[in-house]
Amino acid sequence: MANLTIRKLDDAVRDELRLRAARSGRSVEDEVRVILREAAQGVAPEALEPTPQLALTPRNPIPRVTLIIGGGIAAYKALDLIRRLKERGSEVRCVLTKAAQRFVTPLAASALAHNRIYTDLFDPQSEFDAGHIRLARDSDLIVVAPATADLMAKMAHGHADDLASAILLATNRPILLAPAMNPLMWSNAATARNVAQLKRDGVTMIGPEAGEMAERNEAGLGRMAEPTQIADAADKFLRPPIAQTLQGRRVLITAGPTHEPIDPVRYIANRSSGKQGYAIAAAARAAGAEVTLISGPVDLANPAGVNVIRIESARAMLDAVEAALPCDVAIFAAAVADWRVASEGAQKIKKNGSLMPTLTLVENPDILATVSRRAAGRPRLVIGFAAETENLLGNAAAKIARKGCDWIVANDVSPATGIMGGDRNTVHLLRRDSIDSEAWPDMSKQDVARTLIARITTHLETT
Ligand code: CTP
Repeated sequence: MANLTIRKLDDAVRDELRLRAARSGRSVEDEVRVILREAAQGVAPEALEPTPQLALTPRNPIPRVTLIIGGGIAAYKALDLIRRLKERGSEVRCVLTKAAQRFVTPLAASALAHNRIYTDLFDPQSEFDAGHIRLARDSDLIVVAPATADLMAKMAHGHADDLASAILLATNRPILLAPAMNPLMWSNAATARNVAQLKRDGVTMIGPEAGEMAERNEAGLGRMAEPTQIADAADKFLRPPIAQTLQGRRVLITAGPTHEPIDPVRYIANRSSGKQGYAIAAAARAAGAEVTLISGPVDLANPAGVNVIRIESARAMLDAVEAALPCDVAIFAAAVADWRVASEGAQKIKKNGSLMPTLTLVENPDILATVSRRAAGRPRLVIGFAAETENLLGNAAAKIARKGCDWIVANDVSPATGIMGGDRNTVHLLRRDSIDSEAWPDMSKQDVARTLIARITTHLETT
């Protein structure tokens, strides 16, 4: 089989090839293979598609975001933005301008994005298949955070002398800018002109906010919007509007682990990350519900629009749950510690020669069972979770009976599954009034949440 050297092609053919590859999301080599295969099979080669229009719904099941990080002190917040975007299920590809690399390292961005980082317009590795065109087109959204005065000026005037500005010029995807700069730069007439021009060009902006600046004694309009706000604004582009099927319903959710104090510095805990419960809270809110999330200690941001109550111990969780009632639906996703220490040390327990302290444990209240068994004010639908490492369906069915809840979402949390702390989940849904259980395929925790909300909606509408 002969080798084809793409670099020896005519410029026009090569450019067309690169565009075609970028639009179909293939490498140039793969695109050539497709064309050769089609030619061999006598299929007329696909015509170049007309330039697609801005799409507000994602083309990919996993939305793709190209995040351009500009060079400003707010660049450190872009690292958190990568996490927030990924938490919501997006794939993130980062482009760092030269100035951005003075504030954050490509390595940090790459580690958080779990993706390679793009920095150079003339990077032979990515420009071999017109990487800047691919980054510009093969995304559902381009986010620029922080959008510096300089980057916005370049955009407004159509410059393309580095990778970031070339992508912004070559794209036909929606663009979301999160400006960040000194207040005097923001209020400067030149910036105001550029901002007005960019808005006329269809660019969306979030922020800047008013607040303290990095410079000493400076305050005013110019702080970058918070990463969660930017991720919320991105969601409006990445996700089609969600039917408000839970409008007017009150939903209560518990999430995360509990910490049971041993003494002022030590506690008993478990490995729950809270991701599944937080995803359910976000999905219920997106469906229009009024949501209260009672959360143990986790490293997650509050889902937008959700009333979050943070507690530490199982008993505090029970108190917060009872205070948040009544509600229509209660979902108990928390991994509540089963036991607590009988008498918490008032002072740090000290080592005492060879004597090891003995911890006497007592059982914590069962929050799910307590709410399920309420005579008055029981929520219409009470859903528990069953975290099991063996006999998944048998143990889950027994839990429905033992705790008196209506449904159980059962998952296998054996370490090999990676579910505890991971981003994906494989669950079964069991109902008290049915001997059949539903086995859901492996999916992201966000998709488990959305599927559960759909089941809840159907239940409320049909019973
Ligand atoms: N749960 C609760 N309060 C507790 C313990 C558990 O509300 N003190 C809830 C959890 O939030 C979950 C369900 O009960 O919805 C099952 O939790 P799980 O840890 O799987 O079961 P346990 O009750 O702890 O039973 P076991 O340890 O025997 O598996």
